[in-house]
Amino acid sequence: MGWTLEDLRRDIPVLRRKVYLNTGTLGPSPQTVTVAFVRAYEQWQVEGPGWPEGYEARRAAMDGVRAGIGLLLGVPGDRIGLAENITQATNWIAAGLDFSPGDEVIVGTHEHPANRYPWRALERMGRIRVVPWEMDGDDDALMQRLSRLLTPRTRLVAVSHILQTNGRILPAERIVAACTEAGALSFLDGAQAVGQMRVDLASIDPDFYGFNGHKWLLGPVGTAGLYAHPRAFARLGLLPAGSGSALHDLAGRLEDDVPWRDTPRRLEVGTHNWPLFDGLMRAISLYADIGWQEAFAASHALVEQFLGGLPHGVEEVSVARRSAMVTVRVKDLPGRQVVGELYRRRKVIARAVEELQPQGVRFSFAPFNLPEDVEQALQALGEVAHDG
Ligand SMILES: Cc1ncc(COP(=O)(O)O)c(C=O)c1O
Repeated sequence: MGWTLEDLRRDIPVLRRKVYLNTGTLGPSPQTVTVAFVRAYEQWQVEGPGWPEGYEARRAAMDGVRAGIGLLLGVPGDRIGLAENITQATNWIAAGLDFSPGDEVIVGTHEHPANRYPWRALERMGRIRVVPWEMDGDDDALMQRLSRLLTPRTRLVAVSHILQTNGRILPAERIVAACTEAGALSFLDGAQAVGQMRVDLASIDPDFYGFNGHKWLLGPVGTAGLYAHPRAFARLGLLPAGSGSALHDLAGRLEDDVPWRDTPRRLEVGTHNWPLFDGLMRAISLYADIGWQEAFAASHALVEQFLGGLPHGVEEVSVARRSAMVTVRVKDLPGRQVVGELYRRRKVIARAVEELQPQGVRFSFAPFNLPEDVEQALQALGEVAHDG
């Protein structure tokens, strides 16, 4: 069936009742996505979950999921390992690299705890030193700061592709190139980028790239993964380990010296909640059907509309390169209070981003949103600014 943006919108239940502008936290799944994974689960139960043919078919289907995600990201599917969330994928890197005392990891100052705490944990364990990388200024200023922080001790740079705080798109290619030149590994957290903008890993060429399906891709909660270039994957140790570590037809043997996988699939050590990934593939296929360019253009138009209509007392927290997420402040009101008021007055769902400043309120403009949603948000902001 040829899906359009209108079909997509009609199929997302929450939009009938609320103004959903918080895809950056979690994307609302279309009904067809929910049905895809619920049906897949039911089918599995009807046939018997341990049914031999089903098991084989499932393995093949999961290869298809990795290949499908690879296609979306412009890379081969055998460079993808599937996870439950991006935090898990980030921990694979933190636990897998062989750090030694004195090693440094450069971490952006706007990172989500998913990409801060694993590095802080290693620091607490005395294995690395975290070097904070400030995110102010334009791209040139950012890159100059990075080149000053990179030293022969830098093992890894861990930073987001799009900052969760203010929606700034970071210059991914330049960051990766600077890391390569300095002999450091690069890890980009793509939680806010995949599904929000075109992400072509073949041209960015990072060592590691994390993604999740439960934000901009509108997939089921619990779908995520890690891209690892073979040169970087080879640097990871052998933990975590489990049946998924071994080449699959050998995992059941009693001998423990079976050959192990040499792709990120090895990190998927135990049983997956695989029906969720059927839901994710359904979500990706909807957007492929609609056309990614059309989807991105729709988001972009909503951002322009929003910025063009900001009421008196509401200011954008400006950024060098803007994405489909915009953070504003309403006078000096705390972000949490504003978010509560937006919901109470007009059922507008946004997110407080107090990590950036206590007043930060972030709006996510997804392709399924309409100009009417933006109008509602602007009206509600105007009322809060007026009364506050
Ligand atoms: C930039 C960024 N990284 C990581 C995460 C955490 O994602 P997950 O829940 O999939 O671990 C988020 C979620 O808000 C995020 O915005």
